[in-house]
Amino acid sequence: PQTLYFTRHGESEYNVIGRIGGDASLSARGQLYAAALADHMNVVGTRQPLTVWTSELRRTKQTAAGIHAPKRALRALNELDAGICEGLTYEEMQERFPQEFAWRDQDKLRYRYPWGESYIDIMTRLRPVLSALEDDHNVVVVGHQAVLRCMLGYFLDAKLDELPYMNVPLHTIVKLTSYGYKYKMEMIKMPV
Ligand code: F6P
Repeated sequence: PQTLYFTRHGESEYNVIGRIGGDASLSARGQLYAAALADHMNVVGTRQPLTVWTSELRRTKQTAAGIHAPKRALRALNELDAGICEGLTYEEMQERFPQEFAWRDQDKLRYRYPWGESYIDIMTRLRPVLSALEDDHNVVVVGHQAVLRCMLGYFLDAKLDELPYMNVPLHTIVKLTSYGYKYKMEMIKMPV
């Protein structure tokens, strides 16, 4: 069967202080996850050759650094562009742009940040990546919360409206194994 692995980057300095977007580096705890992920995937890699796909952002590249496999950094895997809200906390967003905050809350799937993106926009830019993944296997995708919600939602046949609320925790490897057209999901939580 075809196997795909998905993970968010390890905890970043921005995750620690609750800021969205940006291009922060991993926190100390995030680095521990990167090491645990590498240990796990390098064992898997002795049985089947892996390929690693990251975004272009520092935090996913740092998370993947210890995995011994060819790596590709894809722009299409970059996190949701929050436009004018990049680098803010949700509290700051609510204070500075109360109307935007309310609109996003009303329709999180379709809401597009000014000068930024919506979940629907992510789905559109992910399309070629998703088709490539359907034909490939033993790929490790190191991504971001919103992008992984879209990818996992796609493979697990989630409803579009559920995508923005899917639970994709940090420091957890999501393993998808295909049986025909269906995927079985396994969550492997790393103790860091
Ligand atoms: O907070 C981490 C993060 O990846 C942000 O960069 C991004 O804007 C956000 O999550 C997406 O999650 P939500 O759509 O729930 O705001």
